[in-house]
Amino acid sequence: MFSLGLLLFFAALPSCYYDNEELLYGKGAPCDTTQARYSQKVAAILQSNCTGCHKQGNASGSIQLDDYASVKACESGGRFLGAVRQSQGYVAMPPSGKLSNCDMMILEKWVREGAQNN
Ligand code: HEC
Repeated sequence: MFSLGLLLFFAALPSCYYDNEELLYGKGAPCDTTQARYSQKVAAILQSNCTGCHKQGNASGSIQLDDYASVKACESGGRFLGAVRQSQGYVAMPPSGKLSNCDMMILEKWVREGAQNN
Protein backbone atom coordinates (compact mmCIF):
# COMPACT_ATOMS: atom_id res chain seq x y z
CA MET A 1 0.00 0.00 0.00
CA PHE A 2 2.83 2.32 0.83
CA SER A 3 4.55 1.76 -2.50
CA LEU A 4 1.30 2.29 -4.36
CA GLY A 5 0.89 5.62 -2.61
CA LEU A 6 4.42 6.55 -3.51
CA LEU A 7 3.81 5.57 -7.11
CA LEU A 8 0.71 7.73 -7.30
CA PHE A 9 2.59 10.59 -5.74
CA PHE A 10 5.29 10.49 -8.39
CA ALA A 11 2.75 9.95 -11.14
CA ALA A 12 1.00 13.13 -10.02
CA LEU A 13 4.16 15.20 -9.81
CA PRO A 14 4.66 16.09 -13.48
CA SER A 15 1.16 17.52 -13.87
CA CYS A 16 1.63 19.73 -10.82
CA TYR A 17 4.97 20.80 -12.12
CA TYR A 18 3.75 21.85 -15.54
CA ASP A 19 0.70 23.57 -14.14
CA ASN A 20 2.72 25.81 -11.91
CA GLU A 21 4.16 28.77 -13.75
CA GLU A 22 6.22 29.86 -10.81
CA LEU A 23 7.93 26.49 -10.59
CA LEU A 24 8.29 26.25 -14.31
CA TYR A 25 9.82 29.65 -14.84
CA GLY A 26 11.39 30.31 -11.46
CA LYS A 27 10.12 32.72 -8.87
CA GLY A 28 10.97 36.29 -9.62
CA ALA A 29 12.82 35.43 -12.80
CA PRO A 30 13.61 38.72 -14.53
CA CYS A 31 11.14 38.51 -17.37
CA ASP A 32 9.14 41.53 -18.41
CA THR A 33 5.84 40.32 -19.83
CA THR A 34 4.10 43.68 -19.54
CA GLN A 35 4.71 44.36 -23.23
CA ALA A 36 3.49 41.00 -24.47
CA ARG A 37 2.04 42.57 -27.60
CA TYR A 38 2.47 41.62 -31.20
CA SER A 39 4.22 44.79 -32.26
CA GLN A 40 6.27 45.14 -29.09
CA LYS A 41 7.67 41.68 -28.46
CA VAL A 42 5.96 38.85 -30.30
CA ALA A 43 6.98 39.79 -33.84
CA ALA A 44 10.59 40.24 -32.68
CA ILE A 45 10.70 36.82 -30.99
CA LEU A 46 9.33 35.18 -34.12
CA GLN A 47 11.73 37.17 -36.28
CA SER A 48 14.70 35.96 -34.26
CA ASN A 49 13.64 32.34 -33.94
CA CYS A 50 11.12 31.32 -36.58
CA THR A 51 10.81 33.37 -39.74
CA GLY A 52 14.03 31.98 -41.24
CA CYS A 53 12.01 28.84 -41.95
CA HIS A 54 8.49 30.27 -41.87
CA LYS A 55 8.20 33.15 -44.30
CA GLN A 56 6.77 33.90 -47.67
CA GLY A 57 8.75 31.87 -50.19
CA ASN A 58 10.01 29.51 -47.49
CA ALA A 59 6.95 28.47 -45.54
CA SER A 60 8.05 25.22 -43.89
CA GLY A 61 5.05 23.02 -43.17
CA SER A 62 2.97 25.65 -45.07
CA ILE A 63 3.32 27.92 -42.06
CA GLN A 64 4.27 31.56 -42.36
CA LEU A 65 5.12 33.60 -39.29
CA ASP A 66 6.31 36.84 -40.84
CA ASP A 67 3.11 38.86 -40.66
CA TYR A 68 0.30 39.17 -38.16
CA ALA A 69 -2.44 37.53 -40.25
CA SER A 70 -0.29 34.44 -40.84
CA VAL A 71 0.75 34.17 -37.20
CA LYS A 72 -2.87 34.53 -36.14
CA ALA A 73 -3.89 31.83 -38.61
CA CYS A 74 -1.23 29.51 -37.21
CA GLU A 75 -2.28 30.24 -33.64
CA SER A 76 -5.96 29.68 -34.47
CA GLY A 77 -5.00 26.35 -35.98
CA GLY A 78 -4.04 25.36 -32.45
CA ARG A 79 -0.52 24.09 -33.11
CA PHE A 80 1.43 27.23 -32.36
CA LEU A 81 1.89 26.95 -28.59
CA GLY A 82 2.10 23.17 -28.68
CA ALA A 83 5.05 23.38 -31.04
CA VAL A 84 6.73 26.12 -29.03
CA ARG A 85 6.20 24.29 -25.74
CA GLN A 86 7.49 21.19 -27.49
CA SER A 87 4.53 19.25 -26.16
CA GLN A 88 4.01 15.65 -27.05
CA GLY A 89 2.23 15.25 -30.37
CA TYR A 90 3.70 18.39 -31.88
CA VAL A 91 6.77 18.95 -33.97
CA ALA A 92 9.13 20.76 -31.59
CA MET A 93 9.85 24.36 -32.61
CA PRO A 94 12.33 25.79 -33.13
CA PRO A 95 14.04 22.54 -34.14
CA SER A 96 17.35 23.69 -32.66
CA GLY A 97 15.97 23.78 -29.10
CA LYS A 98 13.45 25.49 -26.89
CA LEU A 99 12.87 29.20 -26.76
CA SER A 100 13.98 30.88 -23.56
CA ASN A 101 11.47 30.67 -20.72
CA CYS A 102 10.95 34.40 -20.95
CA ASP A 103 10.20 34.36 -24.69
CA MET A 104 7.81 31.49 -24.07
CA MET A 105 6.04 33.37 -21.27
CA ILE A 106 5.58 36.36 -23.57
CA LEU A 107 4.11 34.24 -26.37
CA GLU A 108 1.84 32.42 -23.93
CA LYS A 109 0.59 35.67 -22.42
CA TRP A 110 -0.07 37.14 -25.84
CA VAL A 111 -2.09 34.06 -26.84
CA ARG A 112 -3.93 34.01 -23.51
CA GLU A 113 -4.99 37.61 -24.11
CA GLY A 114 -6.46 36.75 -27.48
CA ALA A 115 -3.48 36.86 -29.86
CA GLN A 116 -4.40 40.37 -30.87
CA ASN A 117 -2.82 42.61 -33.46
CA ASN A 118 -1.65 44.99 -30.77
C1 HEC B 1 15.14 25.45 -39.00
C2 HEC B 1 13.84 25.71 -39.55
C3 HEC B 1 12.70 26.03 -38.61
C4 HEC B 1 12.66 26.97 -37.62
C5 HEC B 1 13.76 27.90 -37.15
C6 HEC B 1 11.32 26.93 -37.07
N1 HEC B 1 10.57 26.00 -37.74
FE1 HEC B 1 8.60 25.54 -37.41
N2 HEC B 1 8.70 24.08 -38.78
C7 HEC B 1 9.79 23.78 -39.58
C8 HEC B 1 9.46 22.65 -40.43
C9 HEC B 1 10.37 22.02 -41.48
C10 HEC B 1 8.14 22.27 -40.09
C11 HEC B 1 7.32 21.13 -40.69
C12 HEC B 1 7.63 19.94 -39.85
C13 HEC B 1 6.80 18.76 -40.18
O1 HEC B 1 5.69 18.92 -40.67
O2 HEC B 1 7.28 17.66 -39.90
C14 HEC B 1 7.69 23.18 -39.06
C15 HEC B 1 6.45 23.12 -38.46
C16 HEC B 1 5.97 24.04 -37.56
C17 HEC B 1 4.66 24.01 -36.95
C18 HEC B 1 3.63 22.91 -37.10
C19 HEC B 1 3.95 21.92 -35.98
C20 HEC B 1 2.99 20.81 -35.85
O3 HEC B 1 3.17 20.02 -34.91
O4 HEC B 1 2.06 20.72 -36.64
C21 HEC B 1 4.56 25.11 -36.16
C22 HEC B 1 3.34 25.55 -35.34
C23 HEC B 1 5.80 25.82 -36.26
N3 HEC B 1 6.65 25.14 -37.11
C24 HEC B 1 6.08 26.97 -35.58
C25 HEC B 1 7.36 27.48 -35.44
C26 HEC B 1 7.69 28.53 -34.51
C27 HEC B 1 6.69 29.27 -33.64
C28 HEC B 1 9.04 28.75 -34.63
C29 HEC B 1 9.88 29.68 -33.84
C30 HEC B 1 9.73 29.65 -32.41
C31 HEC B 1 9.55 27.81 -35.64
N4 HEC B 1 8.49 27.06 -36.09
C32 HEC B 1 10.86 27.73 -36.04
C33 HEC B 1 10.99 24.43 -39.58
C34 HEC B 1 11.38 25.42 -38.69
